[in-house]
Amino acid sequence: MAIRIDGKALAQKMQSELADKVSLLKAEKGVVPGLVVILVGDDPASHIYVRNKERAAEKAGFYSETVRLSADISQEELLAIVDKYNHDDRFHGILVQLPLPAHIDEDSVVLAIDPDKDVDGFHHVNTGRLWSGQPMMVPCTPAGIMKMFEVYGISLEGKNAVVVGRSNIVGKPMAALLLEANATVTSTHSKTCHLSEITHKADILVVAIGKANFITADYVKNGAVVIDVGMNRDADGKLAGDVDFASVEPKASYITPVPGGVGPMTITMLLEQTYEAARRSLGH
Ligand code: GUN
Repeated sequence: MAIRIDGKALAQKMQSELADKVSLLKAEKGVVPGLVVILVGDDPASHIYVRNKERAAEKAGFYSETVRLSADISQEELLAIVDKYNHDDRFHGILVQLPLPAHIDEDSVVLAIDPDKDVDGFHHVNTGRLWSGQPMMVPCTPAGIMKMFEVYGISLEGKNAVVVGRSNIVGKPMAALLLEANATVTSTHSKTCHLSEITHKADILVVAIGKANFITADYVKNGAVVIDVGMNRDADGKLAGDVDFASVEPKASYITPVPGGVGPMTITMLLEQTYEAARRSLGH
């Protein structure tokens, strides 16, 4: 039986410790970390994510603002709003929730964010820093996964790490962080041939493909560490990961559940990075 990595409990602990650090920063330096989340359109999942981010930011004592914009806003208007927050010193972090409506070019919007306020770590300056071995702001989901490895004492050095999925949000930055931690990394994706042969060699298996219960026991080596980034709805509308938990758990040494695994860590790392950005704004 695998050890379950309890992302929910770790996130709660980290967010409560962060609230104390935020109080101290305010008391000692008079600075409150500020986060603005910009949401465009009516995507129901995005609305839930954004509400959760807003609540967590307020609970940790942040200065928090959420900008909800209509789906038909023009790209120019959106860029002007981002620029306004670039120049507003109350905010140390700017997050534009993705996906954006089809008529808006996501890259242009991400690249309009001041890299020093890019708490998602999506700006090319920050992806460049990450791939050059000098990470600063790192995409929050892979950052949360690295935190889980650290806290659970899971060593990465020299291990075979296989990442399934190559998105800019999870797969690619996950591969970069694992490489930085001296793992031997294989990036796999929808065009990969003989996927199960590759995943079967993984000591560390991170799955982020958005297909419910796709990774079954046949894909997993005995004793592997299995990290499930999936947030899918199955046929009954129930939340399901990318990993078939029931069949994989008996083979794994560690496994993250869905829900309560990776998900809560993403918001936690967003808050941590906003706090760090606030400290950096003071020259720390
Ligand atoms: N949409 C899905 N995940 C994310 C994320 O981590 N950041 C942003 N901005 N949008 C997302």
